[in-house]
Amino acid sequence: MNYRIAVIPGDGIGPEVVEQTLRVLDAVGGKYGHSFEYVKALAGGCAIDEKGECLPQETIDICKGSDAVLLGAVGGWKWDTLPGDQRPERALLGLRKELGLFANLRPALLFDELADACPLKPEIVEGGLDIVVVRELTGGIYFGEKGTTDTDLGPAAYDVEQYAEGEVRRIAKVAFDMAMKRGKKLTSVDKANVLESSRLWRRVVAEVAEDYPEVEVNNFYIDNAAMQLVRNPKQFDVIVTSNIFGDILSDEASMITGSIGMLPSASLAEGNFGMYEPVHGSAPDIAGQNIANPMATILSAAMMLRYTFGLGEEADCIENAVRKVLADGCRTADIAREGEKVSGTRETGDLIVQAI
Ligand code: IPM
Ligand code: MG
Repeated sequence: MNYRIAVIPGDGIGPEVVEQTLRVLDAVGGKYGHSFEYVKALAGGCAIDEKGECLPQETIDICKGSDAVLLGAVGGWKWDTLPGDQRPERALLGLRKELGLFANLRPALLFDELADACPLKPEIVEGGLDIVVVRELTGGIYFGEKGTTDTDLGPAAYDVEQYAEGEVRRIAKVAFDMAMKRGKKLTSVDKANVLESSRLWRRVVAEVAEDYPEVEVNNFYIDNAAMQLVRNPKQFDVIVTSNIFGDILSDEASMITGSIGMLPSASLAEGNFGMYEPVHGSAPDIAGQNIANPMATILSAAMMLRYTFGLGEEADCIENAVRKVLADGCRTADIAREGEKVSGTRETGDLIVQAI
């Protein structure tokens, strides 16, 4: 089969981790007889520099004309002083909205080989950790009405958290379907003791639950969930939550797996279309030095094969290759212990390609 992939390297370490990922995709394609066509597109700070805007229409068109999107990272110090609506991060939000990517899957898996990169006590994570955060991605406070107003205490600014039943229902279904394929345990996270939007969220999740009698459902408040995640992370299987709570919890979940440099993500639309990117950012402090960990992006490509192209065996092949190089001792700087040999970005790519 032929697949057309829109590739957005972006800023900072984005281009280098994407470069290694394309080599890995080519290796898998060669092995299984698929060809991947890459169409490069600009978004983020580099698009601001070259085109004067962070998300040019051309980029949106290229994405819409492709089977899937692979993205490195956007943002950097250079653009940090721009007004909020012109920052590179707007490109991400624009892509999510324009492409209808409402479901963000962020698996947090602690590889056995990296157990001691986890900052929690060994007994807390013994036996491994395997959690998926299902984050609503095109609604809530990120996209609600925002503005400024005058108050007695001076000028004020606001962002509205709003959820429609249909938005909650569709993300809940994605999460329940995911739970059915895994441990049949779903935790819905909200702040229903305070927020009206959370009470609606909780009610709709309960309605959807009726169609999934086999799934055990828990409702946690966000503050408790954040605490439980470090106290006893093994109690979680699938977590479903709103855009902003998911943003926070997925970073927390990533850290307990050792390094944010290991975590992939998939952002899915209705149907099979998706955008795939590492959970980490553009890390401008280490950009261009061949020290970034490309594994999160490479694992994101595996998710692309699995979720958008339906190529489960090929996805397994990439994940097994990553596991193998870890078992063989390949460590980028973020996951190396003191005294361990450190592999560069390219070398890590080489090893994974060889393992495939
Ligand atoms: C993420 C990031 C983004 C978000 C930023 C860069 C806009 O933190 O993907 O988690 O908040 O969604
Ligand atoms: Mg985030």
